[in-house]
Amino acid sequence: MKILVTGGTGYIGSHTVVELQNAGYEVVVIDNFDNSHPSVLLNIEKITGKKVVFENIDIRDKKSLREFVSKNKDINAVIHFAASKAVGESVENPLKYYENNVGGTLNLLEAMQENGIENIVFSSSCTVYGEATPPVNEDAPIMLAQSPYGNTKQICEEVLLDQTNASNLKTVSLRYFNPVGAHDSALIGELPLGIPNNLVPYITQTAIGKREILTVFGNDYNTPDGTCIRDFIHVVDLAKAHIKAVEYLSNKKYKSSYSVFNLGTGKGSSVLEVIQTFEKVTQVKLNYKIGPRRGGDITQIYAGCEKAEKELGWKTERDLENCMKTAWDWEKKLESLLIS
Ligand SMILES: NC(=O)c1ccc[n+]([C@@H]2O[C@H](COP(=O)([O-])OP(=O)(O)OC[C@H]3O[C@@H](n4cnc5c(N)ncnc54)[C@H](O)[C@@H]3O)[C@@H](O)[C@H]2O)c1
Repeated sequence: MKILVTGGTGYIGSHTVVELQNAGYEVVVIDNFDNSHPSVLLNIEKITGKKVVFENIDIRDKKSLREFVSKNKDINAVIHFAASKAVGESVENPLKYYENNVGGTLNLLEAMQENGIENIVFSSSCTVYGEATPPVNEDAPIMLAQSPYGNTKQICEEVLLDQTNASNLKTVSLRYFNPVGAHDSALIGELPLGIPNNLVPYITQTAIGKREILTVFGNDYNTPDGTCIRDFIHVVDLAKAHIKAVEYLSNKKYKSSYSVFNLGTGKGSSVLEVIQTFEKVTQVKLNYKIGPRRGGDITQIYAGCEKAEKELGWKTERDLENCMKTAWDWEKKLESLLIS
């Protein structure tokens, strides 16, 4: 089977390309390197021993995208990662997010329709649930989005549902919880540009000395240790779920179908637990302090994962310790890779 991966040089995309190649899929990748680096292609090849077929295409460029897809009509499924993902930036520059995330998805769906490509796996997010009582299942209500970024995920899910109803499209929307960690080889991982928004890159950057101190945003939440609770899922586990989603789509007997799955571990970990786990696994003492709450943070969320386990035949295999170990190995290796 031939799979098109948009955003395939990004964090989750690159790990998914590795898993697809290892599973014997033929993979074509498009990306515009807006938030990634060309050296990722070489590093994927080092891991899998297979060349990555790649084209530098911006999914906002409708003409180039259409030409590319029409030359690759034999694509069986698309895994659509390409998007902008910085919540704060989306508040400052919402048009960029609507154009890239929503406009780009529309261009992709048009190109797929024109060329008879009928399977898509979409990267959605647990942000669609807002503050819900965990464990959160897929039938939890969708809440008013807290940012333009979150809203683009909700809008894309709606667009995909409408297009599925109107055509032969088969769609899987995957709602990721908090992806962390890196490949065991430490050749690919998350490349945060500027100051990281997420906890784990902030931890590893502080530990290595790129940041002076980590601030924990609030320890007065209604949780056992007072800090926020999230569901941290290893990026390799997450990548593997995309293979299951592609298999699921190809086994679907109906002409069109729309399915949603949570991808998480089903277990919540507090910010302090993550810090303690990092210190235990790496034997590095982290410089951190407790600060005030940060606006927009919810108290706790973790996934109900029964649906993915039952219908996709997927569940996570790695624990928080492995997440911390691989994230740290990646941070240490980052300097020596071509990207430095
Ligand atoms: N990482 C997370 O915490 C998280 C959580 C939930 C959902 N998601 C979603 O998962 C997907 C992948 O996330 P990620 O963490 O790998 O992000 P990432 O930024 O590492 O990867 C996205 C890739 O898409 C590319 N891209 C962006 N705009 C493009 C365009 N117009 N044309 C072509 N390529 C373009 C970027 O260069 C990058 O390589 C995104 O859709 C994101 O919104 C991520």
